[in-house]
Amino acid sequence: MTNVINIGIIGAGAIGCLFGGNISKVKYNNITINVTLYTRERHKKAIRDNGLILEQNGKKENLLNLNVFTEPKYPNRPNINDKFPFQYLFLTTKTYDLESALDEYCELIKNSKYFIILQNGIGNVEIVKKKISHFKILRAVTSNGALMERDGYIIRTGKGITKIGFIKTENSEKETVKINKEDKKNLETLKTILNLANLETEIVDNIESVCWEKIFINVGINSFGALTGLRNGELLEIKGLRDIMKRAVIEAVKVAKKKGIELKAKNYVKIMLEVAKKTSMNKNSMLQDILSGKNKTEISFINEKIVSYGKQLGVDVSINEVLSYLIHGLEKANN
Ligand SMILES: NC(=O)c1ccc[n+]([C@@H]2O[C@H](COP(=O)([O-])OP(=O)(O)OC[C@H]3O[C@@H](n4cnc5c(N)ncnc54)[C@H](OP(=O)(O)O)[C@@H]3O)[C@@H](O)[C@H]2O)c1
Repeated sequence: MTNVINIGIIGAGAIGCLFGGNISKVKYNNITINVTLYTRERHKKAIRDNGLILEQNGKKENLLNLNVFTEPKYPNRPNINDKFPFQYLFLTTKTYDLESALDEYCELIKNSKYFIILQNGIGNVEIVKKKISHFKILRAVTSNGALMERDGYIIRTGKGITKIGFIKTENSEKETVKINKEDKKNLETLKTILNLANLETEIVDNIESVCWEKIFINVGINSFGALTGLRNGELLEIKGLRDIMKRAVIEAVKVAKKKGIELKAKNYVKIMLEVAKKTSMNKNSMLQDILSGKNKTEISFINEKIVSYGKQLGVDVSINEVLSYLIHGLEKANN
């Protein structure tokens, strides 16, 4: 059995550093775990100068044992099988950087054993599959929260659960790529490492449904917060607005059902409203992107994806369509 496990993280910002930092502390049998972060120059410099500063549970730690690069380099260690420099390679950029990151890191991804998309959104996998075919791809959906306070400094803003699972991929003959015993064992190992890293993790059979369940929440909250500047809880105080939030989610659920996504018999509108209430003080990530002056948000992988699927499937998606255009307007105003 290998005594080294190499884990890479492409686009190590808030969530990537939360995962990478915590994984780098794991002691797992006699196995050495190496973590390599791929990030931007300023963030890299700060981490190389002072270590990654991770604040969680009211405690601050300086983590000094992380490799950090700004471009696709492999950690130079002698006992790694050349073909698989990373056993597990995570992608944690925002969805709007997905394609460019795939292009930039294509070789690194292909030479790793498992590629794990740790992002919000739907439609990400279609893009990954187009660029990297016949490959065993996983998705991870997390309800943990993290914030990059400044370069090299990450704050854990919430403790949640992470769900992981293989997504269905096809080989060149269009046959579904089989997940074998070894893959299942390696998925268990990843789960163990994440749990030891204080990142509570579950393996799920149908990760696609989990992605959609999270999307229903994002569809009902994110663009509304970004457009109004309101915190999640404040959105609920305006009855008319709350009704439109509900209608946006109903459209998304109809699209998912028509698309054949397996959904549990849950009231997703109620779940979205409960999440908004529970996180009432939060400014959602789309609002934060707009407030920080960014000219891009994750709208194309949330409401806008509902619109494109809805149009293909003949589902009325007019609320999501209006929301998508308005957010593009905000993005343009930030240009
Ligand atoms: N943060 C959370 O609490 C949270 C929770 C659950 C899910 N998520 C999801 O996780 C994903 C990541 O979110 P996040 O909040 O961690 O975003 P983030 O803090 O913006 O981190 C992404 C990082 O990737 C960098 N990056 C982009 N392209 C790169 C490339 N080609 N090479 C190297 N670095 C690159 C970005 O740099 P620049 O910004 O300088 O381009 C940024 O530092 C999103 O899909 C989000 O919805 C986040």
